[in-house]
Amino acid sequence: MSDPALLSQKIRAALAPCRLGAWPTPLEPAPALARALGVAGLCLKREDRAAAQGGGNKVRGLEFLLAGVSPGTVFVTAGGTGSTHCLGTAVHAAALGHRTVLAQFRQPDTVESRAVAAACARRAALIVHARGPATLPLAVLAAWRRAGTLGVRRWIPGGGAHPRAVVGQFLAGLELPTQMAEPPDAIVLPLGTGGTAAGVTLAVTALGWPTRVVGVRVAPRIVANRWRTMSLALRAARLLARHRIRIAFPGSRFPLVVVDGLGRGYGHPTPEGEAAGRLASEHGLTLDATYGAKAFAHLMRLASGDVQRVVFWHTFALP
Ligand SMILES: Cc1ncc(COP(=O)(O)O)c(C=O)c1O
Repeated sequence: MSDPALLSQKIRAALAPCRLGAWPTPLEPAPALARALGVAGLCLKREDRAAAQGGGNKVRGLEFLLAGVSPGTVFVTAGGTGSTHCLGTAVHAAALGHRTVLAQFRQPDTVESRAVAAACARRAALIVHARGPATLPLAVLAAWRRAGTLGVRRWIPGGGAHPRAVVGQFLAGLELPTQMAEPPDAIVLPLGTGGTAAGVTLAVTALGWPTRVVGVRVAPRIVANRWRTMSLALRAARLLARHRIRIAFPGSRFPLVVVDGLGRGYGHPTPEGEAAGRLASEHGLTLDATYGAKAFAHLMRLASGDVQRVVFWHTFALP
């Protein structure tokens, strides 16, 4: 491929995202944690530090999703009460002079989900609550209707899972060659609505790296799966192609492996995740129970055999 930095510039020029984050996010070696896990090398991609106002890994996509709209736009989106995507949308939309209406289902109470829910309540113009994930579509309809009374509306899919946002995540992957001398064996990340994994995996293929991306499924299979993630990546590649930026799409050789980390359900802590959280916190790393802890728990299991040099995608920013 051409120079990744040049390609990033070309993509930014073509799609004109807004600027919300500080790029590149750091890639930090974590040698003590690597020793504790029994791998030769571990680096943390600090997506949690994407923006001082918060939003974690979701800031990448929001730069593309919140761009190019008229002032005072009302963004409507959906997720759990502890959704960083919902909070990130509300915070960054407000900073750009827009408003946000949320449709949310209640998720299990954890320290982090409570903090995110409280921050959402402060930042969103309006929240419509669903009883549970199954009735979320009804809450979305109500939110959409009520947003119409506030101004011109714009829908953002749950989790920000949209091809434009995937392009933002693709740029994250393109940062890696300037941050590490050699491709890692694996990149481990939590898999929710798939946009993050789609962009990072597309970057791995565009770089021609032999790296495997391991998406640890933390949401139900209907939301978090390989097919949906590949389809998001394909749609992002087609979007870039419409701007004359061609990224080869590897089809069935798409190097994403999806593994199950869900446990009892979305947002429910697992014993493995809690153990992972304890180990990480001994090394100064704070993981959230819904995403990071479950992904890190899988990394602990993976740390053997052919997986020796790993990048862990650290996504959660506490509000
Ligand atoms: C903290 C955190 N990590 C990881 C993810 C998963 O990202 P994606 O939905 O793009 O798969 C999310 C999604 O909301 C998240 O909030």
